[in-house]
Amino acid sequence: MSKRTVLTGITTTGTPHLGNYVGAIKPAILASRVEGVQSCYFLADYHALIKCREPEVVHRSTLEIAATWLALGLDTDKALFYRQSDIPEILELTWLLTCVTAKGLMNRAHAYKAAVQENLEKGEDADYAVAMGLFSYPILMAADILMFNAHDVPVGRDQVQHLEMARDIAQRFNHFFGEHFVLPEAVVDDSVSVLPGQDGRKMSKSYNNTIPLWLPEKKLRKSIMRIVTNSLEPGEPKQTEGSALFAIYSAFASSEQRQDMKEAFADGIAWGEAKQQCFELINDELSGARAAYEELISDPARIEERLLEGASRARELTAPFIQELRSAVGIRSLT
Ligand code: TRP
Repeated sequence: MSKRTVLTGITTTGTPHLGNYVGAIKPAILASRVEGVQSCYFLADYHALIKCREPEVVHRSTLEIAATWLALGLDTDKALFYRQSDIPEILELTWLLTCVTAKGLMNRAHAYKAAVQENLEKGEDADYAVAMGLFSYPILMAADILMFNAHDVPVGRDQVQHLEMARDIAQRFNHFFGEHFVLPEAVVDDSVSVLPGQDGRKMSKSYNNTIPLWLPEKKLRKSIMRIVTNSLEPGEPKQTEGSALFAIYSAFASSEQRQDMKEAFADGIAWGEAKQQCFELINDELSGARAAYEELISDPARIEERLLEGASRARELTAPFIQELRSAVGIRSLT
């Protein structure tokens, strides 16, 4: 690929929520329309197994996330959109990389260290309940990225260390076996907002404060009405700073709308009214895609077909590349 390649993965362990939409999905779909860039987006279902042992959750989430990206208008002629497990070369590469990765590097991974720390605090054995999947998952992630020789990897701050590890692993492989891999870079966009959830903390499944993306209209309204505010009465001036409602509104608003809402806060808009406006804004943005989502989700065969098409296009790149890599390490025909 001569174009610049941008790649990112979405772990299939949950139902998409407004935070995913604002922080990842929407910017990614917009970015995929830029000329001169090859974007690769994939459903990281092998990653899902690291934290989830509920087959139905993994399966359902794969369907929902695929339907979400398609409903929101991802152009799959332009972007490569595939399911990780449909690309067997990724797992093959994982092993080649595992064999050059220093164990000490994995010992330093935040996710693993946090698990160990938690065990020690509870007086457990350091590695209690730590699966090898958790321990070595940065290698799987490196394989996801290096398989496509991606240059830029848009991720959240929490993933930056994994990108550093991917570079480190790529460098070691290149050092032993020749220059096969591009060294990828993390792209952290601080301008995309981290959306607060209903309780004001970061919107996250683990805090149980999410607003699911595809709630039917009435439920969406109810869910927005549950965003925490304070006890200020209508007519009393309200602060935008620290207001989860204002932050959520802002993530969907034009700069003009945001300014107007700021003034409305200063003028003492009633919380109920501000929430109603927030609901209308979000609902207007999503209602078209929601209909498309509902249609897609009721026809999994069509989604499956689109994913398999994506995988087949992706494998036009990965199949020859893995042959090159196998050959580089000495695994090749004897004749
Ligand atoms: N681990 C990432 C996350 O939890 C998801 C992911 C898997 C990913 N493979 C990737 C992101 C490759 C970027 C590139 O968010």
